[in-house]
Amino acid sequence: MALSFDHWRFIGGFTLYSFAARSAAETIRLGEALGSLLQPGDLIALDGDLGAGKTCLAGGIGRGLQVKERVKSPSFTLVNEYQGQLPLYHMDVYRLDNPSEVNDLGFDEYFYGAGAVLVEWAQKILDFLPEQRLDIIIDKQQDDENARDIKLIPHGSRYEHLVRELIAHVHAGD
Ligand SMILES: Nc1ncnc2c1ncn2[C@@H]1O[C@H](COP(=O)(O)OP(=O)(O)OP(=O)(O)O)[C@@H](O)[C@H]1O
Ligand SMILES: [Mg+2]
Repeated sequence: MALSFDHWRFIGGFTLYSFAARSAAETIRLGEALGSLLQPGDLIALDGDLGAGKTCLAGGIGRGLQVKERVKSPSFTLVNEYQGQLPLYHMDVYRLDNPSEVNDLGFDEYFYGAGAVLVEWAQKILDFLPEQRLDIIIDKQQDDENARDIKLIPHGSRYEHLVRELIAHVHAGD
């Protein structure tokens, strides 16, 4: 079965859109579709347990943005920069000791810059993230080690629009 949009529901004043990915390849496909829709200044906050598939999704986003290199985990460098149809800034804040370090690291320049930004373990720096963003939470499924529930929560009209476009893409199978 192919990647599918599963359902949506209201949660705490926000709308949550849930996708079912049954393999890493399907997670990559969702990332590719999302990457192809990104615009300058877009910010995606990625969360999920160790090994949930955050970097896997980021790899798909890189492909969708036509980044030639393979997008890898930036754990040791904190930020990797790529050039695709837009600049892509890929951060992983797992190893950040103190959230306020994002100020010293100049993350604001990325957050409000001309590229698209992905942040892995974004909840760690929640207070420092722009309010307008797309939250993505990846959950492993108990019954199948290759299945993931990928939840998207848009904050702001730009991201509501983006998610609706994404659903249309996934429906169309591209
Ligand atoms: N449906 C799926 N989606 C994503 N990854 C999957 C899926 N099924 C299996 N996997 C596997 O799970 C692993 C996910 O690893 P990945 O590095 O993307 O996780 P992560 O969330 O970035 O972890 P970390 O917190 O360590 O950075 C990969 O080995 C991938 O092949
Ligand atoms: Mg990762």
